[in-house]
Amino acid sequence: MKNRGKRVVGLKAKLRLPIVFFLCFCFFLAGLFGSIIISHDVKRGGSRYKLLENFETEEGDSMPHGESGESSISSIPFQVLSWRPRALYFPNFATAEQCQSVIEMVKPKLKPSALALRKGESVESTKGIRTSSGAFISASEDSTGALDFIERKIARATMLPRSHGEAFNVLRYDVGQRYVSHYDSFNPAEYGPQKSQRIASFLLYLSDVEEGGETMFPFENGSNMDIGYDYKSCIGLKVKPRRGDGLLFYSLHPNGTIDKMSLHGSCSVIKGEKWVATKWIRDNER
Ligand SMILES: *[C@@H]1O[C@H](CO)[C@@H](O)[C@H](O)[C@H]1NC(C)=O
Ligand SMILES: *[C@@H]1O[C@H](CO)[C@@H](O)[C@H](O)[C@H]1NC(C)=O
Repeated sequence: MKNRGKRVVGLKAKLRLPIVFFLCFCFFLAGLFGSIIISHDVKRGGSRYKLLENFETEEGDSMPHGESGESSISSIPFQVLSWRPRALYFPNFATAEQCQSVIEMVKPKLKPSALALRKGESVESTKGIRTSSGAFISASEDSTGALDFIERKIARATMLPRSHGEAFNVLRYDVGQRYVSHYDSFNPAEYGPQKSQRIASFLLYLSDVEEGGETMFPFENGSNMDIGYDYKSCIGLKVKPRRGDGLLFYSLHPNGTIDKMSLHGSCSVIKGEKWVATKWIRDNER
């Protein structure tokens, strides 16, 4: 009896070892997936700050560079949202801290947003087209260096020199506020002769928006162009604002004519508030 009991115990011990291994393996897998999920979360938050400061410098065989060039290889992740119009999305372009500092800086300067008027238009007749508040602010006015960093990064992402950019136009949209669809470039037939033209627009979302507030491109890939679009409805390609993310689109074709599909607007904010910094980039220095 004693002998048999021992053998049974021995058998149990033999069984126990694989079970322990199996459990260890399960914990290992759980840990692995857990850390992947956590690292994804962290990436959207603060820990990319260091990388961003260094413009995501990468290891690699860099080339000897010109006098105005850079010594290392870097990358700025992007997604092509559309070819018609040419629109690019840049996740995590700026940090949450940088966005917040821009918001705080601009708050005391906010005024109702103005509109460039076409021939025959008046301030009264254009009421309701653009209902946000905003302020212009240049990188040199920002002692924290956030706007300087963002401006340099925009120049690198677009390869359009900083000297071609207008000052940042920082806007706040409250619930119900919007910007009906429009072009950023000025058609001389409507606005008169232009000294220089806006080529591209870079939008940096400074806040998340709970609901609504998307940037919309109603004519993306030629859609909705023949339906008598009323410039108010929120249709077409929509880009949801996320704090720190960037959106770049070109208002002109490569041949310099206005891209009709670059028509865009800001859908009404339904819940929360929307903060965005816009940089318009021109074909001439300012
Ligand atoms: C985009 O527009 C082009 C030209 O009108 C058309 O041929 C193409 O099918 C469209 N693409 C999609 C995905 O609808
Ligand atoms: C300019 O380019 C656009 C898009 O490629 C084209 O549709 C348009 O006809 C061109 N206009 C001129 C004047 O070349």
